[in-house]
Amino acid sequence: MSIKNITVLGSGIMGHGIAQVSAMAGYKVVLRDIEQKFLDKAMEKIKWSLQKLAEKNKISKEEVDIFYNNIIPLVDLQTAIGNADLIIEAVPEDFDLKKKVYQELNSLAEKNIIFASNTSTLPITELSKLTDRPDKFIGVHFFNPPQLMKLVEVIPGTTTDSKVTEDVTNYINKINKRPVVCKKDVSGFIVNRVFIPMVHEALYSMERDNVSMEVIDSAVKFKLEFPMGIFELADYTGLDVIYKASYEMNLRDKTVLLPHPKIKELYDNHDLGQKSGKGFYEYKGDNYERIDLTPEKASKYDPYSILGVAANNASWLIDNEVCTIEDLNIALKLGMGLKMDIFDLFKKNGPDTIINKLLELESKYGSFYHPNQSLYSRK
Ligand code: 3HC
Repeated sequence: MSIKNITVLGSGIMGHGIAQVSAMAGYKVVLRDIEQKFLDKAMEKIKWSLQKLAEKNKISKEEVDIFYNNIIPLVDLQTAIGNADLIIEAVPEDFDLKKKVYQELNSLAEKNIIFASNTSTLPITELSKLTDRPDKFIGVHFFNPPQLMKLVEVIPGTTTDSKVTEDVTNYINKINKRPVVCKKDVSGFIVNRVFIPMVHEALYSMERDNVSMEVIDSAVKFKLEFPMGIFELADYTGLDVIYKASYEMNLRDKTVLLPHPKIKELYDNHDLGQKSGKGFYEYKGDNYERIDLTPEKASKYDPYSILGVAANNASWLIDNEVCTIEDLNIALKLGMGLKMDIFDLFKKNGPDTIINKLLELESKYGSFYHPNQSLYSRK
């Protein structure tokens, strides 16, 4: 079956971005949310983004309107899915909420429609069992902002039909994204298994080493050559997303991250990052804004444990055959903007020092820091 019409459920940061990139590839898209005011805000953001892309000559002025008009915002679910070949669910990362959405979809959606979830962390096989079509269910995990990040992780569940994986992978290629197939439905898939634990580790580093957020972020940006600092990226991603992803990952796999209580505290206070005006940092509004990080601040800190935790989780992914090293590197480059391959970064920054740091932390804080055996072979 060829996919022609897309319906995106949820018009938040990810949903509106997925709708936009699909519309930019010529698909007719319906963007659905539960209230008109959410859709109005999403369409405003889509207009802003398209105009930004036109300003940078990535699309023409005429295309701004053409792409914008390829998206129909709708509240009524039955109408919204009426013509869909593929429904991409991008509602908040809450298992009970997703369950409710799929129960509703089961009763309304034609049997041939493929369901794809943009979940960041929930197990695809578990989600597929909530539906009446586990063979037509798959994970498609986009990265924020979907308009600029090229990666999409494709996660088939144990019962996903291989034809569905093929059709959905074709769709991802057509929207000019790079699919990377996550071969095992593990907690955090590929990128979040590396990224989310780094946020927690950055908090522990800050406390243990008594340095400021800006210093840690500057070191991550200038010494590890990430495009953003880790706290900056967490604010940009949204502390609600970070909290929920951490919670779900930790619920299913205790080895993946060491939860730091500050994440829940920020979430409970509704300090959600850029979108709410305050998270780790403060912001002027909810628009794109960057933190002033400098090489001078970076010179004050060596983020050994942050890199150690990232490299250790990356080696776990390889040891457990979740992906190949090539796919890992593509995923981290296109999903998080890393300039260097993760194990090259590890080699460049003193692998013995990093492993010793992990061993020291293991002796104080337990087995989470235990270096994977294969990390030694990546020195
Ligand atoms: N559409 C169009 N343009 C946009 C945009 C959007 N949605 N968002 C930002 N821009 C524009 C900005 O306004 C800015 O324009 P300007 O030059 O006119 O000011 C430009 O794009 C970006 O320029 P910058 O110099 O500020 O930024 P960078 O060169 O660093 O690129 C970035 C921005 C691509 C976001 C880069 O910083 C990056 O790759 N950051 C890391 C993002 C990341 O890791 N994302 C993944 C998070 S994890 C995730 O999403 C998974 C989830 O499950 C948790």
